[in-house]
Amino acid sequence: MTLKQRKIVVTSALPYANGPIHLGHLVEYIQTDIWTRFQRLRGHECFYVCADDAHGTPIMLKSRDESITPEQLIERIGKEHQADFADFNIAFDNYYSTHSEENRGFAEQIFCALDQAGHIARRTIVQAYDPEENIFLPDRFIRGECPRCDAGDQYGDNCEVCGATYSPVELKNAVSAISGAKPVERESEHFFVQLGDFESMLREWTGAGHLQPEVRNKLEEWFSAGLQDWDISRDAPYFGFEIPGHPDKYFYVWLDAPIGYMASFKNYCDAHGMDFMSYWGEKSEAELYHFIGKDILYFHTLFWPAMLHGSNFRKPTAVFAHGFLTVNGLKMSKSRNTFIMARTYLNHLDPDYLRYYFAAKLNHRVEDIDLNLEDFILRVNSDLVGKIVNIASRCAGFIHKRFDDELGPVLDDNDLFQRITASSEQIALCYENREFSKAMRVIMALADEANQYISDREPWVVAKTEGQSDQLQAICTQGLNLFRVLMTWLSPVVPSLSSRVENFLNTSISQPGDWESVSTPLHNHKITPFRHLLKRVEQKDIDNMTDESAEIAESASTEPSRPMAKNPIAEEIGIDTFAKIDLRVALVADAGPVEGADKLIRLTLDLGGETRNVFAGIKSAYDPARLIGRMVVMVANLAPRKMRFGVSEGMVLAASSDESGLYILSPDEGAEPGMRIS
Ligand code: MSP
Ligand code: ZN
Repeated sequence: MTLKQRKIVVTSALPYANGPIHLGHLVEYIQTDIWTRFQRLRGHECFYVCADDAHGTPIMLKSRDESITPEQLIERIGKEHQADFADFNIAFDNYYSTHSEENRGFAEQIFCALDQAGHIARRTIVQAYDPEENIFLPDRFIRGECPRCDAGDQYGDNCEVCGATYSPVELKNAVSAISGAKPVERESEHFFVQLGDFESMLREWTGAGHLQPEVRNKLEEWFSAGLQDWDISRDAPYFGFEIPGHPDKYFYVWLDAPIGYMASFKNYCDAHGMDFMSYWGEKSEAELYHFIGKDILYFHTLFWPAMLHGSNFRKPTAVFAHGFLTVNGLKMSKSRNTFIMARTYLNHLDPDYLRYYFAAKLNHRVEDIDLNLEDFILRVNSDLVGKIVNIASRCAGFIHKRFDDELGPVLDDNDLFQRITASSEQIALCYENREFSKAMRVIMALADEANQYISDREPWVVAKTEGQSDQLQAICTQGLNLFRVLMTWLSPVVPSLSSRVENFLNTSISQPGDWESVSTPLHNHKITPFRHLLKRVEQKDIDNMTDESAEIAESASTEPSRPMAKNPIAEEIGIDTFAKIDLRVALVADAGPVEGADKLIRLTLDLGGETRNVFAGIKSAYDPARLIGRMVVMVANLAPRKMRFGVSEGMVLAASSDESGLYILSPDEGAEPGMRIS
């Protein structure tokens, strides 16, 4: 049966460029990747695009913390994200950034279209403002005591202790989380999308089968509560796109974030000579799907269709929302060592394990899914290793030793082969409907049948029986053909294993259109000697992973949380800035007075081979002769300074206060000249 080829564009939500990818994120990227790989396997044209969500206040402030530009930050994080995704075999056709010219173009175009059609209102609002940092404060950057339960150190919009929601002005003893200053109120003009203008379109669209039933119910609640105008502008300083014609006004990050889907796809189209509008134009026949988490539904089911509609682009075919990941039944948590980063996982475990485990748990509903680490070991070992790979390892040896790696001309039990492959469309339907857990159950039940068949036919007994060589080859040919069928169906889930299986079977199982080929068994086909396909998960791998997460949490918690020290003597810096200072242990090889300078001592410092000449202003507290032979701490990369008496090539560290003198710092006993200090 040949299917009509569909044109499909798929997206996952764009991860924020201010932190690493963690296992919670991966629920989404793995779910989407399995679905898109499935579509390609069926022979459809399917593009999967994504990008980093690069704008907004948190990213601007984080880059400040690290004393780098936002552009440098998003560049670095973008690379980290892409490496994590690549190593989890997330096969994006394009991965881009919302900080791109394509995105600026579309954001301006959509804003102008909405504005010209009269959907944008301008209103002056009063907002909390940090008078020291000269910045309007998002609710998340105001901390204070909860007006209801008095719990301290709560966010400006809700209390994590009693769950109250409120506005930042109600917070008691509020401070800016950036500077610690008391926020003041300040007026500013903002732009609003009048969402109510789109109500009838939205009611119709949300009722027309584009959404999951439980999402539709949620929307009913939102409609009844009334659609509020949406504030889409922010004042400088802000990292984002300036609103054309309105200096110092920027698009709010959530305006240009979903537009980033279009920008990433446009960037791909331009690189591949494709017509963007045949996918995103109002009349497009292509299908468009957004996979998202349940926390960002409002943006994707109300704001986004309204923006597209108001600017004459097509709307999504469907929005697919998933639930949140819990680990061992609880919210991921640093203190329980269950806040696991993608990279930490990859340092210890094969990505296919997690992909399979998530597939075995995911369905089409908006339910949370749990990663239970004990169950993870059992499930992966029993299904992937014990059921699937086992079929191959039970048959491959005989084909290698007795038949020169060649599959035979016939199957031993053609009916069984037909019966098993008859499930193909049922499994396809499960994938199509995002019923991955059901697909995995069906595939594993068929794997049980295949294993039962091998147990019943006992090839190891047949192998010892004279004159039954053809039968042995037919049994093993049967087993390996069933293995191939099962692995083809699993290939969207476990791409690394699939590519090893492709080498072993010397045939393709995961390429566009391969789904169809399961109905035709391989005969008289040369395979390669069986090699190890998948190792079992071991408890120690899991332990090492959680230990590493614990270490990361530990090192992160030694950084003080904002606000900083009570009386800072310099602005806050990030560890990267600190690391730019080359601090060394030095031995005072020689010291003496400086002719014509009352306060200075001339020091010859030995850095373990290299010597430096330094003029230090410490004469009021030290006799030069007493310094010779002492270890001190020096800044070795301070730019040389030309003085009247010569060039000073560094600086010696000393503690001081006006009242009580001056104290040179020395390392503890045992330190050697030249040692690095960090
Ligand atoms: N930048 C926005 C999305 C913009 S889309 C135009 C954002 N970024 S995020 O990094 O916070 O999340 C990216 C996706 O990962 C979201 O769909 C979010 O729901 C999902 N998840 C983040 N943490 C998650 C879990 N713990 N569990 C499951 N999904 C999670 O939101
Ligand atoms: Zn409270």
